[in-house]
Amino acid sequence: MTAIQTKDITLDIGHFHLKDISCSIPAGKITAIVGPNGSGKSTILKLITQLTKQTSGQVYIHNKQANQYSLKKLSQTISMLPQSKEGLPDLTVKELVAYGRSPYKKLFEHRLTKEDEKIIDWALNLTDTKKYEHRLLHTLSGGERQRARIAMALAQSTDILILDEPTTFLDIAHQLDLMEMLQHINEHYRMTIIMVLHDLQQAAAYSHHLIAVKNGLIQAMGSPAAILNSQFLQDIYDIDAKVQFDGEFPIIIPNTKKLRRNRNGYSHKYE
Ligand SMILES: Nc1ncnc2c1ncn2[C@@H]1O[C@H](COP(=O)(O)OP(=O)(O)O)[C@@H](O)[C@H]1O
Ligand SMILES: [Mg+2]
Repeated sequence: MTAIQTKDITLDIGHFHLKDISCSIPAGKITAIVGPNGSGKSTILKLITQLTKQTSGQVYIHNKQANQYSLKKLSQTISMLPQSKEGLPDLTVKELVAYGRSPYKKLFEHRLTKEDEKIIDWALNLTDTKKYEHRLLHTLSGGERQRARIAMALAQSTDILILDEPTTFLDIAHQLDLMEMLQHINEHYRMTIIMVLHDLQQAAAYSHHLIAVKNGLIQAMGSPAAILNSQFLQDIYDIDAKVQFDGEFPIIIPNTKKLRRNRNGYSHKYE
């Protein structure tokens, strides 16, 4: 079963081009999107959620063209956490999570129904943020704030959750904590999760499906164990490294001699 399909999407925005993006996101699974900075990962997410309009091609969500969804219906189907930037409004955790219920409200309707309260509580408990529900967002640590943002996305009651670099500003313990939480949500609620990750070990260990993007092109797709190898690192990141799997975790060993040789080529710049 496919949750999302993109067919031959192209996008031309000035200096940047996405070319023939065709991919299927399996329903009820975790898909990780990886690739160098500026390769087009966030842009692909914005095309899926219709925040950006493609130049040509088509996006299908549950087999229906994405542009045939009303904005309201789309936000009842997909929730997306953009890359975390500073400047969240100064709300309490509960107020933030309550925003997740907006797609179910009429214009200017603010009162929470019993059903809303139940879902907000469920999202707070699932993300272990119930204990901070009355705290202001700026008083939380990075990990706590990220869990509160995820609670807001969960309160949207969608079956597809998209996260753009959810772990980028967290330490390794909080990164793993978040990945475990997302895995639990995927397994218990069969939620389709799509996330951009930079850590290849975590991408491999926590996703069923991996999509690698470089220069606006999908360069590789498949199960992590099938595609994550030495050639992959060369093709996607231009690095020379060995890959060995220890269970689901790949161990990546860069050829440091070669890295140093390359660095010496630039050494005059830094001396
Ligand atoms: N709104 C925009 N207008 C013009 N260029 C953009 C816009 N958004 C992104 N880009 C450019 O598109 C390219 C891909 O960006 P992005 O999808 O954010 O990459 P990634 O998420 O892989 O780091 C970059 O060169 C970026 O500068
Ligand atoms: Mg990005």
